[in-house]
Amino acid sequence: MDWHIRFDDAQGRLELLDQRFLPVREDWFYCTDTASTIYALQTMVVRGAPAIGVTAAYGCWLAAREAGATAGPAEEDWRPCLDALLTDLENARPTAVNLAWAVRRMRAAWGPEQGLDALCASWLALAKEIHDEDKRFCRRLGAVGAAVIDDGDTVMTHCNAGALATADYGTALGVIRGAWDAGKRNIRVIANETRPFLQGARLTAWELAKDGIPVKVACDNACALLMKKGLVQKVVVGADRIAANGDAANKIGTLGVAILAQHFGVPFYVAAPLSTIDPATPDGDAIPIEDRTPREVTHVGATQIVPDGVEVYNMAFDPTPAALIAGIITEVGILRPPYGESILKAFGAE
Ligand code: MRU
Repeated sequence: MDWHIRFDDAQGRLELLDQRFLPVREDWFYCTDTASTIYALQTMVVRGAPAIGVTAAYGCWLAAREAGATAGPAEEDWRPCLDALLTDLENARPTAVNLAWAVRRMRAAWGPEQGLDALCASWLALAKEIHDEDKRFCRRLGAVGAAVIDDGDTVMTHCNAGALATADYGTALGVIRGAWDAGKRNIRVIANETRPFLQGARLTAWELAKDGIPVKVACDNACALLMKKGLVQKVVVGADRIAANGDAANKIGTLGVAILAQHFGVPFYVAAPLSTIDPATPDGDAIPIEDRTPREVTHVGATQIVPDGVEVYNMAFDPTPAALIAGIITEVGILRPPYGESILKAFGAE
């Protein structure tokens, strides 16, 4: 079901359910060229590592069509133009490695002798394959991860690693859906609200409520008390990039949740497809952390909550050390420590 990322073949455009306005409005945003695709990625019309990768794959096709339409008359002029557009696309957001992964995969399928029409045809097919593959991987990951959830568990999650953050089904929410679909109908979810963009309150709660999976939203700073009271049995979160040693960057606040989980003896899992693991990044400190506009912190919607002129931090992600992670749930199985070894093995099993 292409319900939030759709490609319209007739119009040649990418259609995205605009996540900025959920849960209040279901508006659609149309990407017709590289600039509109980059805008959608940067303003978080679409967000979540795998969904960013799928969007970028279609974005490469839009870039190729744009290069053909705007480059000079010589047959070869579109190639450097396309190359520059792809570089811009790849740099739209720095932390989620699925973006660079998708653009790299598209580039690898760009034959040096290929004409523009042939390239566009093969790229559209590849973008659709990446899209379908993510749906399959999330289902598989969900079925694998269901094993770590016991019926009766309350599972805490941070940010939104659900259907909206992937092609469908989700990663962390895929694990929860996997358990639910396996008949564990006594599970409950705590969605941390996830300041400042409120992906947990707006998106995770919206998705789960639609599916009838019991969910309660908690403000981020309730995490310690909820764990202390024994109200959380598992934590499952997504990731934007997992380093070669198993350190995993996810939405800001995840590190605090992981530290609290260790303190209170709550198993903390990361769920992500192999496309989120970046063997070229040695550890969490080497993961680039996106610094976003101060306005997301100074305002809630249109309402200003920080005095004029006061500076804020808006680092959007934090890396959780591998030592705090009980397992990394992927489409090829649950990776266990030592992650350096299990990650290498997983790539061998791909
Ligand atoms: O800034 P966002 O909303 O793109 O951040 C998203 C997250 O941190 C998700 O948890 C992560 O991308 C995993 S999505 C399956």
